[in-house]
Amino acid sequence: MMTPFMLLRRFCPPPCGRRWIFSSKHHYCSSATKIRIRDALTSLHTGAMVSIQGWVRSVRSQKNNLFLHVSDGSSLEPLQVVASADLNTRGLTFGCAVDITGSLEKSPSQRQTVELQAHHIKVVGECNPVDFPFKIKGHHSLEYIRQFPHLRCRTNTFSSLLRIRSEATAAVHSYFRDNGFVQIHTPVITSNDCEGAGNLFQVEPAGSDDIADKDDHFFSVPSYLTVSAQLHLEVMAGAFPAVYSFGPAFRAENSQSRRHLAEFYMVEAEICFTDSLKDVMKLMEDVFKSSTAHLLSNCAEDVWLFHKSISPGHQDKVDSMLKRTFNVISYTEAIDILNRSAQPFTFSPKWGCDLQTEHEKFLVKHCGNVPVFVTDYPYDLKPFYTRDNQDHPRHTVAALDLLVPGVGELCGGSLREERLDLLKARLARAGLESSYAWYLQLRQFGSVPHGGFGLGFERYLQCVLGVDNIKDTIPFARFSRSCLL
Ligand code: 4AD
Repeated sequence: MMTPFMLLRRFCPPPCGRRWIFSSKHHYCSSATKIRIRDALTSLHTGAMVSIQGWVRSVRSQKNNLFLHVSDGSSLEPLQVVASADLNTRGLTFGCAVDITGSLEKSPSQRQTVELQAHHIKVVGECNPVDFPFKIKGHHSLEYIRQFPHLRCRTNTFSSLLRIRSEATAAVHSYFRDNGFVQIHTPVITSNDCEGAGNLFQVEPAGSDDIADKDDHFFSVPSYLTVSAQLHLEVMAGAFPAVYSFGPAFRAENSQSRRHLAEFYMVEAEICFTDSLKDVMKLMEDVFKSSTAHLLSNCAEDVWLFHKSISPGHQDKVDSMLKRTFNVISYTEAIDILNRSAQPFTFSPKWGCDLQTEHEKFLVKHCGNVPVFVTDYPYDLKPFYTRDNQDHPRHTVAALDLLVPGVGELCGGSLREERLDLLKARLARAGLESSYAWYLQLRQFGSVPHGGFGLGFERYLQCVLGVDNIKDTIPFARFSRSCLL
């Protein structure tokens, strides 16, 4: 005897090229449109047959009905799926991967506008909820989920972080594109140490421990993972007035601190025909404010999750950073402020010494929790490329750091020494003249006054989201004694 479905299959074929799928309980058409949950949640096409793929965030089983929340990484809000209890199947648990087909309908509940009324549920990958490190109603801290770098993207908080990171990356690129900058893909492997701080990772083929002479080096010269794209950007700034890069930087700092990584991302920009630190400061402030405003409007619910559950009250701080003009003080003024304060610092502030994190945080508070530029650092504290202010008796350079609430240093930048004689003399004193012959040539052929900066992208996310530990802002954190996965 023909069943109703066999009749349907015989007399009502689905549109060309598609086929009816027969399951023991339900029949559905393979033409259901595959849809991302973010799009399903805002869809106006109620009644449409759709299929979604994702991971189950909650399961509630009643006598006649089954309620699921399913996420696919496209939004913080999951899609509610309603099914008759007989669709409940083995393996349908918190954390499992599913493929669900059904019709998108207006939801009777106030909590969501649409829901998926399931016709077919397939468990694609089971997840044993007992062994799974995250629990259905658990409030897992960032510290806890950090122990599972291979699984933490399945938590709400970390998937929000990853969406924010992706959107912030897009925001940075749009800022520079909209403002006429050319993006340069600078090398990851380099033969120079831009910052001269010596915390370099050397690059050689695996197994080449004994490098006796230069012929044994893979590249004939010692080579390293880049600490900064700056010098390569300066090359390009000889032909383009505004360039930028956004890529990884590596520092072999033996630090377990909450704001240092061995591999981090840096946004760097270089602008020409400028002899004023004010232009560099304006660019830094614009990049910060424009990217943050973009993020707040394009990723509102993900940012809200951080401001609500990770750093309550942080939203006001971000609003105030966006509204107010950043402060500017000189390094010399900063040391005076620190010395006049009653604060007992672990390291006494002293002219000629680096500002410590505790000093930076104090200065930001002193400036009303609004970011502050500290300018004109002592000559001996900054790398060879910084422009000499030629001032006396306290010899300084046109370098600046941007300090922000909660983090301290977010950006470092400077005007670059464009005067051949001064640069040559400084390199010679450091014994670097021959290594930087090419850099000196940049000053011989059409040299112009220029400057730029680097912004630590993970510190930027810490600052905007109020995340205490930098390891929670990057998909796979690398720091001394830890290189998981
Ligand atoms: O101040 P830095 O060392 O500046 C430079 O590298 C310049 N050459 C950049 C330029 O002018 N183009 O580094 C820039 C920023 C710091 O302010 C900080 O935010 C971040 O990079 N940074 C780190 N972030 C995470 N982990 C580390 N170990 C970092 N070291 C620097």
